[in-house]
Amino acid sequence: MSHIITEVNNHCLSIVINRVEKKNALTREMYQAMADAIFDIKEDKTIKAIIIKGAGDCFTAGNDISDFAEQQENAHVPETASFMRALAECKVPVIAQVHGVAVGIGTTLLLHCDFVYATPDSRFVLPFINLGLVPEYASSYLLPKVAGHIKAAEWLMLGEPFSAEEAYQFGLLTKIVDANSISQVVKDTAQKLVEKPTFSLMQTKSLLKGDGERITLQMNEEFDIFLEALGTTAAQEAFDAFLKKRPINPEKFR
Ligand code: COA
Repeated sequence: MSHIITEVNNHCLSIVINRVEKKNALTREMYQAMADAIFDIKEDKTIKAIIIKGAGDCFTAGNDISDFAEQQENAHVPETASFMRALAECKVPVIAQVHGVAVGIGTTLLLHCDFVYATPDSRFVLPFINLGLVPEYASSYLLPKVAGHIKAAEWLMLGEPFSAEEAYQFGLLTKIVDANSISQVVKDTAQKLVEKPTFSLMQTKSLLKGDGERITLQMNEEFDIFLEALGTTAAQEAFDAFLKKRPINPEKFR
């Protein structure tokens, strides 16, 4: 079974992250599959909405930590970059459907969506600092814009989980929706989008996303620092501790 399931139905592309046994942690192959699915719709002018959701009991546990552990300083990660660009530059409205945990890029990708629905049990976390890493996906630019510097600093410098209620309060979510109705609410929103005139819909999104160049600049700057961070002793210690299910050695995490 593929770890990314895509389906086109009624002018809407659904992308399901489906690596349930690993909490939908994202591998390089999965990033590429999602990037390809989003890029491919350029060829299909009839698609007017994209839905992204997770299978099983969560949205996604973020980047696969084994992949992080293998990446060396200055290594290229074209698949991740490709996914990030595909979603950030996507002309079609994107709806995220979140339940359970949304870790790392599982939260930062939401900043590039247009509608974000989450169940009350959703937990968001930006754990980069606790992995010896730095923010990615332009979150160091977009989060202060959305939630203000003070909240962004708390989320990014402490790296502690926060609730759906807090995410909603600080502008990350469209709405909190009960688990038994979230799929229908997402489908209804997709249907409403599909019924809008194509030109107006795409141009409205494009006008709203006016700071694309700034976002690309920030993503590139973050990427350089992120790759440098991957090679540090602190990051390697955090990855090894996670993978071996042991506590972090504070001597190596400075
Ligand atoms: N990368 C690789 N494997 C991951 C993973 C990740 N990001 N997240 C979870 N997994 C794996 C676990 O190692 C475990 O594998 P195993 O069954 O072979 O031991 C399996 O998925 C289930 O995870 P587990 O930790 O047992 O589930 P949980 O419900 O107790 O906790 C999380 C879920 C998401 C809170 C926890 O797994 C976690 O913190 N993951 C790391 C998240 C992270 O830091 N991501 C990087 C973001 S930059």
